[in-house]
Formats: sequence, structure tokens, C-alpha cells
Amino acid sequence: MSDSASATVIVPGAGPAQSLAEPELLEVVRLGHPTLREVAEAVPEELFGSARLQRLARALIHTMFEENGVGLAAPQVAEPLRLFAYWVPETDDEPEIAPRVLVNPEIRAVGDDMEEGWEGCLSIPRLRGLVPRHRRIKVRGRSVDGEPLSLTADGFHARVLQHENDHLDGVVFLDRMTSMASLAFEDEWERHEPGGGQDDD
Ligand code: NI
Repeated sequence: MSDSASATVIVPGAGPAQSLAEPELLEVVRLGHPTLREVAEAVPEELFGSARLQRLARALIHTMFEENGVGLAAPQVAEPLRLFAYWVPETDDEPEIAPRVLVNPEIRAVGDDMEEGWEGCLSIPRLRGLVPRHRRIKVRGRSVDGEPLSLTADGFHARVLQHENDHLDGVVFLDRMTSMASLAFEDEWERHEPGGGQDDD
């Protein structure tokens, strides 16, 4: 993926040689790339169900796993479009949320409960910080094929969704921290913070 700041939609793997069986590994851009600070465009109706959108979605999931993330938004691969990939690993309390892609999502909080949790970001490598998020949210969006999706999410699942949705509005987790006092390099954090070792999103 080029480092272009252009608003042009660059579709990965659009060449005829690209096999559908081999998702492309995309370059994750880091803080300083202008696309990370832009409000992304809604995916237009004509892209739903297209090979272009399917290829981008597959590449987002593939790149997310290759980079050991739990989420990856299109602006993080310099695509100013409103979609992201995410998954939630199994925990003691909750089953895995299998990898999925949400297109044109809209999030609203359910209730007023907020909770702080640690976050990192593939576009802000090696840093961690405590971020307050809504504990429970409702999400509406579309699948890559245009089917309507709606879900309720709690806890870490809700946190991942809020983090990724922020990327679509040019917001990063640093902006949501209420204090910089918890900001930590991950190697120090893993040494000093109990329960360290979560994935980036
Ligand atoms: Ni992120």
C-alpha cells in the first residue's frame, strides 16, 4: 500500500494476477499519516457485494492477524472508507467473536456505564494507555455484501468496536485518554502491569 494521502480509494490486489485465495498483506500506516486524522467516507452503495470490497475486507482480516491485532480499520491502511475488521479472542467468561468486517457502522451507548481498560493500536506501535469506554453499546452496520447487521456488545468486545469506530472519524485512543499518566511502552507495561499482553487493535 502506498503512503499516499490522496482521497482516492486505492483498492488492494485489484490486478488480474491477484488470486482470490491469497489475501493481500497491507501496509499499516502510523500516526502522522493524514488518513488517520480524516473523517472517512461511507462505503457507497455500488461497492457492496463487489469483488473490490470483498478483497479489501479479506486483506484487512489477513493483515490484522499477521500484525497480531484484534482490529484494523480501513483508514489504518490508508483507505479513507468506513469499514473495519475485528475479532475478540475467547476468554474465561466469553466465547470467541470470530473475525468479521463491519461496514458503515453506527454506534450508540446503552446506559451511562463507562469503564477504563488498556488499549494499544497498530498505528501507534509499542504504546499502551488506559482509556474510558462505554461498557455496553449497540451497533448497526452492513456486511460486505450489504446485509444489515445489528448487535449489542459489552466489555472488551464493546471496547474494540469503539476503538475501531473512532478510526473512521480520525480519532485515536490517545485522544480518549483522560490522563497521560498511564501511557506506557508495552515492554515496560508487560513487566510492571499485572495482566499485560493484550493484542493491539
Ligand atoms: Ni487502532
